[in-house]
Amino acid sequence: MTERIICRCNDVTQEEIEALIDQGITDIEMIKRLLRIGMGPCQGRTCIPMVVSILARKTGKKPDEINLPATRIPVRPVPAGVLVGEMEGDGDEE
Ligand code: FES
Repeated sequence: MTERIICRCNDVTQEEIEALIDQGITDIEMIKRLLRIGMGPCQGRTCIPMVVSILARKTGKKPDEINLPATRIPVRPVPAGVLVGEMEGDGDEE
């Protein structure tokens, strides 16, 4: 049987997610914490909607009835130059 990877960033399968739901864990925030879905480089852009879909199907809820996990801002401030790819030595040094 082939595994269906839901979170490619963290190699989490559909079976792992469904196993938690079958154990009664239906809070997406708790699923996120236990399996680390949505914590990879893509920040859950691809996997969170699929987890919502799985949760909706398994619990009989509508997808819009499922609360999305909270987004968190970075703990440390990030200089704007890092975000735009500014390299050391760029700029107007003479
Ligand atoms: S696919 Fe899940 S965090 Fe990127």
